[in-house]
Amino acid sequence: MAVLDQLTSQQAIDLENKYGAHNYHPLPVVLSRGEGVYVWDVEGKKYYDFLSAYSAVNQGHCHPKIVNAMTAQAQTLSLTSRAFYNDMLGRYEEFATQYFGFDKLLPMNTGAEAVETALKLCRKWAYEVKGISENDAQIIVCENNFHGRTTTIISFSNDPVARKNFGPFTNGFIKIEYDNLVALEQALESTPNVAGFLVEPIQGEAGVYVPSDGYLTAAKALCEKHNVLFIADEVQTGIARTGKLLAVNHEDVTPDILILGKALSGGAYPVSAVLANDPIMNVIRPGNHGSTFGGNPIAAAVAMAALEVVLEEHLAENAERLGHIFRAELSTFAEENELVHLVRGKGLLNAIVINDSEDSSTAWDICIQLRDNGLLAKPTHGNIIRFAPPLVMNEEQLLDCVGIIKKTITNFSN
Ligand SMILES: Cc1ncc(COP(=O)(O)O)c(C=O)c1O
Repeated sequence: MAVLDQLTSQQAIDLENKYGAHNYHPLPVVLSRGEGVYVWDVEGKKYYDFLSAYSAVNQGHCHPKIVNAMTAQAQTLSLTSRAFYNDMLGRYEEFATQYFGFDKLLPMNTGAEAVETALKLCRKWAYEVKGISENDAQIIVCENNFHGRTTTIISFSNDPVARKNFGPFTNGFIKIEYDNLVALEQALESTPNVAGFLVEPIQGEAGVYVPSDGYLTAAKALCEKHNVLFIADEVQTGIARTGKLLAVNHEDVTPDILILGKALSGGAYPVSAVLANDPIMNVIRPGNHGSTFGGNPIAAAVAMAALEVVLEEHLAENAERLGHIFRAELSTFAEENELVHLVRGKGLLNAIVINDSEDSSTAWDICIQLRDNGLLAKPTHGNIIRFAPPLVMNEEQLLDCVGIIKKTITNFSN
């Protein structure tokens, strides 16, 4: 079969199963085209995308401004490595640091790499600025976190499936309960040599857990008191997803280190970044850290366009407004439908919790029926379904989707 022959869904699935590593369990749908809030499968069926590639496609599929920036740059200069300067990176760094309000940016490609970068930066700052003796730095993290898949990051995950048989792990992490200020205070007071506190402003993968109001502000204050860096992983929550540019903006918190990925490129290209002010970022010197692709000209062009789209199209405001409508509609629905236990979230990062045991297949089966009814979503952790459409959605489309979700769950049978 020629590589570019039109495939049926089943043929595409069979190919992945036979020739690809089985590291995912995708919903059985094979997509071949996307535009705005819609995607189409290889048979031509149209769906609302209610996952947005795990919140990477906030600006909508194939946004013309982002695609144009990418193709123009791809035809001009794609990669120089950082062995040489290029004429796009500095422009992007100036643009993005002003956009987010930090002195400096360190460019990487994927979210996990950016998290790794933040951890290295935090440790180096601890030894060279805070004065912790070498190899003694501790970083506080939260239970049920998701920060990516590298060996160090899974060292402090408590997901057995992500960890089993991947040891030995990296030391230097202390795990505390999420959304628990007493636990944070105790950890800060009882542990010597704490360098940083790494936190997701909303735990996305864990099931869209929104912490109590004031948690982030108080956590930041505790970190300041103990001279510990507050590191916000906004890979999933950032770039307008939760109704503000950053989820920490809901509480006016400024992280010491900010981690971004996913929608930094609108999903068009792998672009991630770590931002910090000079007293922190200046501990990084030539040879300490890098990536062949990090900061390449295409990434720089794409990220600038993607960030412009967020402001030009008022995506944060739209997410905020539509999020309220979505949760109001589904909360009312949850009151009368016994399958939906509750709805929670912020902006357009939401989830419903299904009234069934953690290990039941109900959430998965609902997602299959949602697919049949033209809406793509996926369970995250057992009986929780995450709903995160592109932020370019309009109210009419959102209400259409609410209708599909209600109809599917009302008629659900397994
Ligand atoms: C909060 C958070 N951090 C990091 C990552 C890892 O990003 P990537 O898959 O690009 O490595 C994710 C991915 O879902 C995430 O949600």
